[in-house]
Amino acid sequence: MAIPMILDCDPGHDDALAIMLAAADPHLDLLAITTVAGNTTLDKATLNARRVCTIAGVSGVPVAAGCDRPLVDELRIADDIHGVSGLDGPAFGEPTVPLAGEHAVELTRRLLLDHPEPVTLVPTGPLTNVATLLRDHPEVAPKIREIVLMGGSTGRGNMTPYGEFNIAVDPEAADLVFRSGLPVTMIGLNVTHQALVTPEVVARFRALGTPLAEACVALMTFFGSAYERVFGLPDPPLHDPIAVARVIDPSLVACVAAPVAVELTGAHTRGATVVDLHHKTGEPDNAQVALHLDVDRFWDLVVGAVSSLSGSRAAGSPS
Ligand code: RIB
Ligand code: CA
Repeated sequence: MAIPMILDCDPGHDDALAIMLAAADPHLDLLAITTVAGNTTLDKATLNARRVCTIAGVSGVPVAAGCDRPLVDELRIADDIHGVSGLDGPAFGEPTVPLAGEHAVELTRRLLLDHPEPVTLVPTGPLTNVATLLRDHPEVAPKIREIVLMGGSTGRGNMTPYGEFNIAVDPEAADLVFRSGLPVTMIGLNVTHQALVTPEVVARFRALGTPLAEACVALMTFFGSAYERVFGLPDPPLHDPIAVARVIDPSLVACVAAPVAVELTGAHTRGATVVDLHHKTGEPDNAQVALHLDVDRFWDLVVGAVSSLSGSRAAGSPS
């Protein structure tokens, strides 16, 4: 039985690969793609989600736009990483995938209440949409199987010294999600930086020899150039697909239960995820915190997904 899930994203280069993995993998039933302001403005993130679905041949999955700014702070985007369009690199034509008429929060509420089984939410951007859903529609909580989010870190941040982007853009939203009492899994930078897009990984995509694979190469090449310029990392971490991979096969991502608090008032640390790995605070565990990724199997999954969407044999894939 495929796992019903909703991907809430801010495409974004790594979000684009998360969309492809979520749409392609047979273990998942992708009910909807919702967008949130983060890497770029909401309108661009939404256009980018429709563009990715178009080039990947993903049809029949509603794409709905959500919140255009964090709960409290002004929006801060990551155009230094994702470019002016939010998805610089490939040349995209006009999307053929339509925009759903409903707001993302309303669509998510309706899908959750209507679905016969509880649904997994996979946020890979700021948590504004998810927090708004939980705040305004508490009746949906029993229909949420778990929340597997890309965000936070057991160590340092990337937007501020201790703030990871998805959390630091909307700390109030993240705080609400981590305090919701729902099953939350945190896929933080400490794990996503194990999934580096090395030249060998790029070669595996290029070897697929399809237009979609070429678009992925262009996306990852741009992403890598930005990471080298900003962080001195030529091989960029492909953050967001790891959250999807965890839903597909939990054995890919080793986690431990721990208390996680979101810092809201620290003069220098607002937006940090404070992960009490050694249980020093006496606080109860409120999240599964990812610590280790099976990197080889992760890349097999992502390359295989792009191959299946483009209908070609994955060159270099395991026999
Ligand atoms: O910190 C990395 C996260 O922020 C990723 O989800 C990336 O797409 C951005 O949203
Ligand atoms: Ca993202």
